Amino acid sequence: EKGGHASFMHKEIAEQPRAVADTLLGRIGADGELILDELRIPAAELREVDKVVVVACGTAFHAGLIAKYAIEHWTRVPCEVELASEFRYRDPILDARTLVVTVSQSGETMDTLMALRHAREQGSRVLAICNTNGSTIPRESDAVLYTHAGPEVAVASTKAFLTQLVACYLVALYLGQVRGTKWGDEVLGVVRDLADIAGAVERVLADMEPVRELARSLAGAGTVLFLGRHVGYPVALEGALKLKELAYMHAEGFAAGELKHGPIALVEDGLPVVVVVPSPRGRSVLHDKIVSNIQEIRARGARTIVIAEEGDETVVPYADHVVWVPVTPTLLQPLVATVPLQVFACELAVARGNEVDQPRNLAKSVTVE
Ligand code: F6R
Repeated sequence: EKGGHASFMHKEIAEQPRAVADTLLGRIGADGELILDELRIPAAELREVDKVVVVACGTAFHAGLIAKYAIEHWTRVPCEVELASEFRYRDPILDARTLVVTVSQSGETMDTLMALRHAREQGSRVLAICNTNGSTIPRESDAVLYTHAGPEVAVASTKAFLTQLVACYLVALYLGQVRGTKWGDEVLGVVRDLADIAGAVERVLADMEPVRELARSLAGAGTVLFLGRHVGYPVALEGALKLKELAYMHAEGFAAGELKHGPIALVEDGLPVVVVVPSPRGRSVLHDKIVSNIQEIRARGARTIVIAEEGDETVVPYADHVVWVPVTPTLLQPLVATVPLQVFACELAVARGNEVDQPRNLAKSVTVE
């Protein structure tokens, strides 16, 4: 069943290029238009939407955080992202013009289900991004966009996360398309890069031995910090979550701009800090700010592990280890930058003797509130 892999987790990490390609299949037309007829919500209604609210838990919530950047950038519709477990208890402001998007691998997560029921009671339309055909969440939603990751057996989510990101990008681009916002050459370029992204994920996977070696060398570490900005911030949160659940290590993700507001006090000699660096093209201001963050923490003794875009030599002087990822449009970088963090957590878990497919205390699908 594991097809020669040491665990389902290894197998599912390796399956990501295929999972991503399957989720894109048939959804991008030859001239770059998005084909999401399955959405069933009429275009006229999507044009009326004045707010998008994404609700999800855990890793799926991290996909939602990234969706916010894409939705707001490509559609100019305000987007909020909320943990499903918090959502309905604060009496959120919802109406018929709010599009609620749930993200769930299993389609059975109770918190997400209760959030969607609450949203529908308030008259909002609910779109489910889900990996499990016929599960409860899509059955109760107005529309569904299935991810095609295939069955995910390992408790920690990997390939489902990448396909959730793809689905979020597709929804954001589709909304932009039907609303006629930002539909210029920039977006068409992004669509083309998204259509080819499986190859980029494949290239990341082809060169993971140095990451595994690094992970083994850190098996005795107590804490690992993760920093990112913009879409790299949710990637940092996801890297930290993977490490907690698989390696049972203390890990935290921070927005790099918050360092000086507190977390930098944690930095001491030898502390491993993983930094996700945005492309030096695009939002170059953020790139330069994060490179100075790396300098600051290194000066305080941190062992810096830097995820950077191929060709970005500016990080080299301050990095103890560099993991190169292919050049992508800024918003799509999470699709390549998350992969080394999954491999890192998986290898650390193995080095610490943990059962990677079945981490202690966790269940694959959380059907209680
Ligand atoms: C983390 C993980 C969990 C799930 C969360 C939501 O690796 O697997 O955080 O992402 O429980 O589950 P779904 O997507 O099934 O709603």
